Amino acid sequence: MQHQRSARLKDRLGKVAFGGDYNPEQWPAEVIAEDLSLMRRAHVDLATVGVFSWAQVEPRPGEFDFGFFDRVIDDLYDAGVYLSLATMTASPPPWLSAKYPEVLPMRADGTRLWPGARQHYCPSSPVYREHAVRLAEQVAARYGDHPGLVLWHVGNEYGVHVAECYCDVSAADFRTWLHDRYGTVEALNDAWSTAFWSQRYDRFDEVFPPRVAPAHPNPAQQLDFARFSSDAMLACYRAEVEVLRRLTPDVPVTTNFCCIWKAVDYWAWAPYVDIVSLDSYPDPSDPEGHIEAALNYDIVRSLKGKPWLLMEQAPAAVNWRPRNATKQPGAMRLGSWQAVARGADAVMFFQWRQSRGGAEKWHSGMVPHAGPDSRTYREVAELGAELTASPEIAGTDVEAEVALVLDWPNWWALELDSHPSVDVTMREALLAHYAPLFQTGVTCDVVQSSSDLSRYRLVVVPDLYLTTEEAARNLTTYVRAGGHLLLSFFSGLVDECDRVHLGGYLGPLRELVGAHVEEWYPLDNGGSVKVQLADSLGGQTVAATVWSEVVVPSAAEVVGSFAGGELAGRPAVLRNTLGEGTAWYVATKLERPGMRRVLEAALAEAGVRPMVAGLPEGVEAVTRGTSPGTRTTFVLNHRPDPVTVTLEHPVVDLLADRPAATELSLGARGVALLREAVSPETAAGEP
Ligand code: GLA
Repeated sequence: MQHQRSARLKDRLGKVAFGGDYNPEQWPAEVIAEDLSLMRRAHVDLATVGVFSWAQVEPRPGEFDFGFFDRVIDDLYDAGVYLSLATMTASPPPWLSAKYPEVLPMRADGTRLWPGARQHYCPSSPVYREHAVRLAEQVAARYGDHPGLVLWHVGNEYGVHVAECYCDVSAADFRTWLHDRYGTVEALNDAWSTAFWSQRYDRFDEVFPPRVAPAHPNPAQQLDFARFSSDAMLACYRAEVEVLRRLTPDVPVTTNFCCIWKAVDYWAWAPYVDIVSLDSYPDPSDPEGHIEAALNYDIVRSLKGKPWLLMEQAPAAVNWRPRNATKQPGAMRLGSWQAVARGADAVMFFQWRQSRGGAEKWHSGMVPHAGPDSRTYREVAELGAELTASPEIAGTDVEAEVALVLDWPNWWALELDSHPSVDVTMREALLAHYAPLFQTGVTCDVVQSSSDLSRYRLVVVPDLYLTTEEAARNLTTYVRAGGHLLLSFFSGLVDECDRVHLGGYLGPLRELVGAHVEEWYPLDNGGSVKVQLADSLGGQTVAATVWSEVVVPSAAEVVGSFAGGELAGRPAVLRNTLGEGTAWYVATKLERPGMRRVLEAALAEAGVRPMVAGLPEGVEAVTRGTSPGTRTTFVLNHRPDPVTVTLEHPVVDLLADRPAATELSLGARGVALLREAVSPETAAGEP
């Protein structure tokens, strides 16, 4: 059923969808009329409508007025624009909190968050949920049969402004959640190590969220509160989905996820969306913003192993950074194709028309304040035409032989306070491993430590601080059976309750690594240490930062050693043969060249080759299958200057009017779509 639902969008549109958030309630009728004709000109075929329309459609409690949207939605459909319709619950109207002040969320220090912006609700609030569900029901009953409806958009970016609520309503909900998880207060005491600092609980109702306290709150309590908070938002989301399923079982449901977002465990959420969608706002002034964007796209594609939707991106500048660079000519097109290359079946923007008033009036729109006679609108319309000309890409898969591990509980636990170093963070750890893979031209999926890994040739595991016995078994079994794995420092340390695995660090991963860690020497802020790589890794001396530790090998071979600092001469990089496979261990944060060298060795041993060999710096290559028997390699030049890429054999660039060639010239921020026929054996996975 989920499969049929999720196919609806592609079946109706027949191509990669193109459009954006449309907020017509901000505009008079004549502007809306112009919008429809400009959308047609720009090949827009999908609009997200109603995300912030609650106050408009329910101006007073229980009084619904959908007249305005009835007309807009019909007019959009007549203009060839399909509907991604919001349940309209993202921003409660002022009357809700005026009537029920307890719906307002609270910070850890007891500060109430007031209305006047958006997302001002406590996710555990029964009052909020009841009103949100009632509205979702009204919207679904009214528009569920509309021929233009292809997608439900529930809420908006859960957890972006209010990821955790510490109010009394949340406290009560947290206690229920804990009771469900632990059953007895004794089990809770054990899980939370409450013998420490006299924290033993006698009853569940003595427990609170980890509100601001005189010293570090109990780490296991913090970890459970992060789990609970993600679940509370999920329950809120699911309450609306239940209504939609009942009234419109054939319409797929999504909610827009955010980039590398700590508060929401997207693995736990993914089963409850039919299609994953993502909002992506790489910083145009960050020369490596495209690498982090690629990582995000690989994460969301992997959540369901299927095409996903780029639900929002900025046409030019955003308004919420301290300094908001605009996208240079060609950058919006390049970023859009990058998302498509990594599996997106929609290219959407926030928002269609740049607002005249309100907090986001300096955020760009597809139609900017200057109107359609503008660079932004012209680039939007050109991209719309280009996507229309390549319909066969929609629905196809992305090929990856490497997987990167990301577990949300590990992320929460890794960044708890009172740790050996504040410099060990998940985002940095992910990028330290992902960026060199990206630069080598190797595509990754993202998996959990408990996922089935058997289809991957190499699995990369950044800083797995929280390692469950189950995860350790899974990773070890994968390697024993012939898999290749690279693990980084500060791993195998605690269980799911943040209790240390005793008997030598690396704990349940000791057999996998063929070593244990005895103690660590975190580096000073900005400090670095040299690592001498063995001849088998090229023999260079490379730099490392953040971390060093005392590794005691039992079976592993040392292939890199600290060449200075407290640990001079001790192992820094290890390689262990286990069963049919190989595990690498890196006991410090190697800077990019060193990490690239080690990863290249691991890739070579695992038999992974890049999609395009010898890519120049700043050029990305990703392959997406198309119809059976063909595939498309996207080559994307993120540099501000032209570049030439040498291909193994001549290939046609679908976006250029020129014959097949082996020398591919790409202009600054240029894009090529190389279409090739593939034989059945090659399609089955051979490079
Ligand atoms: C998020 C929100 C949008 C808008 C954009 C601005 O993605 O979902 O409503 O605020 O940010 O960048």
